Amino acid sequence: MNKNIAVIRGDGIGPEIIAEALKVLDKIGELYGHKFTYTDVDMGGCAIDKWGDPLPQEMLEKCINSDSVLLGAVGGDKWNDVPGNMRPEKGLLRLRAGMGVYSNNRPAKIWKQLSSASPLRKEIVDEGIDFIIVRELIGGIYFGEHKTEGDTAIDVLRYSEAEIERIGRIGFETARKRNKKLCSVEKSNVLDSSRLWKKVMHKLKDEYPDVELSDMLVDNCAMQIVKNPAQFDVIVTENMFGDILSDEASMITGSIGMIPSSSLGATSCGLYEPIHGSAPDIAGKDIANPIGTILSAAMMLRFSFNMEKEADAIENAVSKVLDMGYRTADIMPKDVEEAGKCKKIGCSECGSLIIDNLN
Ligand code: IPM
Ligand code: MG
Repeated sequence: MNKNIAVIRGDGIGPEIIAEALKVLDKIGELYGHKFTYTDVDMGGCAIDKWGDPLPQEMLEKCINSDSVLLGAVGGDKWNDVPGNMRPEKGLLRLRAGMGVYSNNRPAKIWKQLSSASPLRKEIVDEGIDFIIVRELIGGIYFGEHKTEGDTAIDVLRYSEAEIERIGRIGFETARKRNKKLCSVEKSNVLDSSRLWKKVMHKLKDEYPDVELSDMLVDNCAMQIVKNPAQFDVIVTENMFGDILSDEASMITGSIGMIPSSSLGATSCGLYEPIHGSAPDIAGKDIANPIGTILSAAMMLRFSFNMEKEADAIENAVSKVLDMGYRTADIMPKDVEEAGKCKKIGCSECGSLIIDNLN
């Protein structure tokens, strides 16, 4: 197959981690007879510097016209004083909205090789951590009106039934393919938008009798994720709650550097990105962990290009490299390093090792 991938290298460690993911994709192409071509897209701080806009319209169009988008990371302190509507993050939000990718899938899964890196107690980790957060991505408070009037600032949180229903369906469908347990997370004891959320989820439930639906308030959910993460299979929630809970969920797996994500809408053209940020402090030092981005590329193959065995090959290669004891700095616990049990590697070596283990 021929696929045209829009590539956003972005800021900070973005270019380094993307380079490793492209190395892996090229090798997959070679091994399985596909041709991946890449279209570079400027977004984020680098686009502000070059074009005075975090996502120029023609860059958005390149993404919409691609078969899918692979993104490294955007942002950094350098652009802190840029006005709100021109910040690097605004480019990302415009990209998500422009592509219509309303459904963001963020897995929280612990790699057995890294279980000691979790900050949770061993008894809790041993129960298992393997759930998915399905986050609504292009609605809610992120996309309501934002304004400041004198000494008062206003951000509007709005959801329509239709917006809730389409993400609710993804939640049910995702649970149906897994352990059939869906937890809908909201704040219905306070917010109207959450009461509507809950109502729509329960209406949908009749169409998915095989899936068990539960409700949880977001504050309780934040607690349950650290108290008993094994109880979760799929969580479905609105944009900002999903943002916060997915950071928490990634932390308990030991490293945010390992976690990929997919964002999809009505078409197969998706947006794939690691969930970590641009980490400007370690940029250019060849020490970043490229695995989150490499696994995001694997998700692209699986969800947008229907390349199941190719995606499996990448995930297995990552697992093998971990089995062999190779660790980037972020997933190397001090005691393990001191005991000489694992070997510390840099970003490019990590990518090369994954390639070497692809078949
Ligand atoms: C994320 C990030 C973004 C978000 C920021 C960079 C706008 O935190 O992808 O989780 O809040 O959605
Ligand atoms: Mg976030």
